[in-house]
Amino acid sequence: MSPDYRTFLPDDTALLAELESRACAHGWSATQYRDSVRCGHQFHGLFAAERLQGFAVTQSVLDEAELLNIVIDPQWQGQGLGKRLLRELRATLAAAGARRLFLEVRAGNAVARGLYAGQGFVENGRRKNYYPCPDGREDAILMETEL
Ligand SMILES: CC(C)(COP(=O)(O)OP(=O)(O)OC[C@H]1O[C@@H](n2cnc3c(N)ncnc32)[C@H](O)[C@@H]1OP(=O)(O)O)[C@@H](O)C(=O)NCCC(=O)NCCS
Repeated sequence: MSPDYRTFLPDDTALLAELESRACAHGWSATQYRDSVRCGHQFHGLFAAERLQGFAVTQSVLDEAELLNIVIDPQWQGQGLGKRLLRELRATLAAAGARRLFLEVRAGNAVARGLYAGQGFVENGRRKNYYPCPDGREDAILMETEL
């Protein structure tokens, strides 16, 4: 059964951090998620029987929005949920008046880059050696798309 999409206000930020820690090595902590809630960032979730399968965090300023994070529970990856969540949040942001969506991704994150390229994001800049990684440092790729 396809999960339900909705925006939500997380009351259990440890749950988000735990889910993300299983999905990637460089995730946010529960404290960072708490700060994100306090900053008024928007949370978008996919829920199956009230269980969170994946989520994304965005912030909007006037008609521009930024995708700060997107995570699908590893148990549910590779089944189209990342694409679904991105499609749904784009529609939500557009309905709220955003016209462009920006993001930043590690150069070595081939899966995320595939997801973004498939949804029409184009590269608009690079920060050389921005992120630490096991081999040293890697570039941050900046991308954007129209909504
Ligand atoms: C990136 C992420 C959100 C994608 O979610 P997902 O549900 O696994 O992705 P989907 O099944 O919707 O696939 C979307 C696209 O990702 C790419 N992709 C998915 N699995 C892949 C794999 N194993 N290898 C290469 N590309 C892959 C493909 O481009 C795919 O599009 P396609 O099906 O049209 O080929 C998920 O892998 C994740 O949570 N990763 C860890 C956190 C992370 O890196 N977030 C991004 C931070 S910038």
